[in-house]
Amino acid sequence: MVIVLDFGGQYNQLIARRVRECNVYCEVLPYTKSIEEIKALNPKGILFTGGPNSVYDETSPHYEKAIFDLGIPILGICYGSQLMAWTLGGEVATAPVSEYGHTDVEVDTNSVLFKGIEATTGCWMSHTDYIKQVPEGFKIIGHTPVCPVAAMENPARKLYATQFHPEVLHTKEGKKMLSNFVMDICECAGDWQMESFVENTVKELRGQIGEKHVILGLSGGVDSSVAAALLSRAIGKQLTCVFVDHGLMRKNEGDEIEETFTGKFDMNFVRIDCKESYLEKLKGVIDPEEKRKIIGTEFYRVFWDEIKKHQTDCLSYFAQGTIYPDRIESGKGKNGKSDTIKTHHNMVDQPTDVQFLGTIEPLKDLFKDEVRKVGETLGLPHELVWRQPFPGPGLGVRIIGEITAPRIAVLQEADWILRDEMAKNGYEKELAQFFCVLPGVNTVGVMGDHRTYADLIAIRAVTTDDFMTADWAKIPYEILGKVSGRITNEMKGIVNRVVYDITSKPPGTVEWE
Ligand code: XMP
Repeated sequence: MVIVLDFGGQYNQLIARRVRECNVYCEVLPYTKSIEEIKALNPKGILFTGGPNSVYDETSPHYEKAIFDLGIPILGICYGSQLMAWTLGGEVATAPVSEYGHTDVEVDTNSVLFKGIEATTGCWMSHTDYIKQVPEGFKIIGHTPVCPVAAMENPARKLYATQFHPEVLHTKEGKKMLSNFVMDICECAGDWQMESFVENTVKELRGQIGEKHVILGLSGGVDSSVAAALLSRAIGKQLTCVFVDHGLMRKNEGDEIEETFTGKFDMNFVRIDCKESYLEKLKGVIDPEEKRKIIGTEFYRVFWDEIKKHQTDCLSYFAQGTIYPDRIESGKGKNGKSDTIKTHHNMVDQPTDVQFLGTIEPLKDLFKDEVRKVGETLGLPHELVWRQPFPGPGLGVRIIGEITAPRIAVLQEADWILRDEMAKNGYEKELAQFFCVLPGVNTVGVMGDHRTYADLIAIRAVTTDDFMTADWAKIPYEILGKVSGRITNEMKGIVNRVVYDITSKPPGTVEWE
């Protein structure tokens, strides 16, 4: 394994993920881990992360010098590079010119770290301090016009450092540099697969949970489904998954979720059917924020009531499908400064009268695509593993105006046709998200010799990396035409017009409500 020693930088998990991409197992550990604990793990390599501090601050995270004498290859990144230089007797100072963003770095391609890299390579910099003087025995292997030590090495001691961030995508050849470190310098075998993550996690979960029980809130989304499958592998019937079916899922989705988790996996599966009570609560409500609040509040009321039933004899653990990006987002969201554009209902606190032994989040360090790999390894159906992001309030935010059972059925049908056609065309992977909206507008049409007056369906499809901004997708006209034709034919008398939403975000949002 390779260890990422965390000195407080923002890309720590990204470094770990890049190492895992080389098929090498990698974990992030806090810099407070003792040298004995690190030795006991027998790592093949260590990466020191960046961090916001200056090595000269008294409160800055430091590490004892002996770590550099273990004979284990170390790569220091940004703050990590300065820490290495400073600890080993080099000089670190405030840079006369700070570098932020894209910077061309001249590198020494004779260094193993830069094997196969262009002599001038675009790197991502973000620093105010810099290494002014390398420690004894070190050689400069990278520089920029204003940064004399953009990279340094001491191959005899297997110590390497870069001022820039090889882990971020903006460092064009960063993946190759990290691969050089992990494969050539650390001499890792590169034979680690997701199966090993599954095996190790299953072992750890069994050790942690023992004979106790675990309750998991299953939404049917990728993350909670993969967490459920993983826990099922680890503890079988000690796991209870609670699935609140509010009736606002896509066509047949509730049944498919039940089928998967009752048929294929060993666990207790509870499906709470509250379609009727939701419809009752949503009767006459047309304000988008009020709808969201009702859907969210009702969801948690039903969910926690069910959990309380399971907690009468003894306490259990509470499991969640939290993944790494969720942790960053919720951290960011805590500054309280951002505007409430829309209330996302899946971040509601645990009520004070519900107690647990603790929280279990087996996917908390993984990125979405890694979670998908775990899901595939565990044998979850393809549709579930590759499921699109689906909002907690479900179709509720795609039905403008009042939510009624017949209107849900109309939207479900149109949306199903869209998804079916996209799957047939193999176009779904090109899009971040696509779905139908029922705007609640009737338009005049003609069918045969008859006038029709029926619902309008809008198609929304976007491309985006992070959903903070999004562009409307340029779906080929032939596909859009086919979808429109199918919806108006297969839903005769119900839908007579289909439109395509060509608004980016901003100014629009992805969902219509
Ligand atoms: P917006 O509409 O905010 O959507 O541009 C961005 C992404 O977030 C999803 N979304 C939600 N997800 N609960 C969720 O879990 C919500 O209340 C919610 N609202 C929007 C949306 O589907 C898109 O992927």
